[in-house]
Amino acid sequence: MGLRIIDSALSTPKKVVTNDDLTKILDTSDEWISKRTGIKQRYQAVEETTSSMAIEVAKQLLEKSKTDPSGIDLIVVATMSPDYMSPSVAAIVQGSIGATNAMAFDISAACSGFVYGMSIVNNMLHGGKFKKAILIGAEKLTRLLDWTDRSTAVLFGDAAAGILAENDSSNSSYLINEKLNTYGNMGQYLTAGNVAALDDPAQSYFFQMNGRKVYEFATKRVPESILTVLREANIDPSEVKYFLLHQANERIIKSVAKKLDLSMDKFPVNIDRFGNTAAASEPVLLAEMLADGKINRGDIIVFSGFGGGLTVGTNVIKY
Ligand code: ACO
Repeated sequence: MGLRIIDSALSTPKKVVTNDDLTKILDTSDEWISKRTGIKQRYQAVEETTSSMAIEVAKQLLEKSKTDPSGIDLIVVATMSPDYMSPSVAAIVQGSIGATNAMAFDISAACSGFVYGMSIVNNMLHGGKFKKAILIGAEKLTRLLDWTDRSTAVLFGDAAAGILAENDSSNSSYLINEKLNTYGNMGQYLTAGNVAALDDPAQSYFFQMNGRKVYEFATKRVPESILTVLREANIDPSEVKYFLLHQANERIIKSVAKKLDLSMDKFPVNIDRFGNTAAASEPVLLAEMLADGKINRGDIIVFSGFGGGLTVGTNVIKY
């Protein structure tokens, strides 16, 4: 019972911004950015919006799976950069694709959004009332950047990706285990979209991050979360085909691989091309891996995300 992934899709904006492009507006270099983060380029949504990218993903999912929009009963979008506070991105997607039988809402868990969404959708499908769901991570993070702040402007990018999932009524378990944690006491280490800044010039609407603290948090909490989830499920890390980690910094991914005593071959990386796309990061990676035929039915895959909140989340799934 529960969530079975049927298809995946991704959408990227047209404009690509390289590290060299950023050196024209910021005191930075390709060497600093590549060495410290692994990022070489990112996409920037100019005409595209969070919802237009999410709609594109939903349309691709329907087309690929030959599903009529009326057959979708649940749409969840994970985002920290919605077009509006209301309506939700998910409601805009629902209206645009004509999924008249679907209920739709957004979730806000920053870069853990997709992992939190997997858990929510799995539980809702498991409950039996919903049969087919679309889960999308969509972000236009470049709109939340202060382009004069080199410590954050070089890190983030825009994209959307998602999955079509159905409730599988067999006895197979597709979402084998999960662990979601929130550390609200550390929330001020990463903030974005502070609406108080609309009235108070002393506050910032843009990304504010204590990079060191988030780095320490991620390199401690992500391996801890993964090891707990696998131990509880009686799965040895070596049995996992791929660990799809949130793409925030290649050094964080390498540190997690080291702590799990595993080779980087099991940790695919696309941060070089996308930068940090928050809730879109793991579904983008999944969509690319599936398109390349690197993940097959029956493979055990781990998703692990971390970020604003602060939050951490891990899902172990059988694809
Ligand atoms: N170009 C050149 N120099 C820079 C840049 C830049 N873009 N940014 C900072 N520097 C300088 C700093 O000013 C500093 O200079 P100083 O030593 O003269 O003071 C120096 O580089 C070192 O800066 P640090 O911030 O100490 O660099 P660090 O090695 O910690 O790397 C980074 C910074 C990449 C942000 C790292 O801390 C990191 O990745 N942290 C994790 C962040 C993260 O994962 N955030 C995503 C959370 S996801 C979400 O929810 C959205």
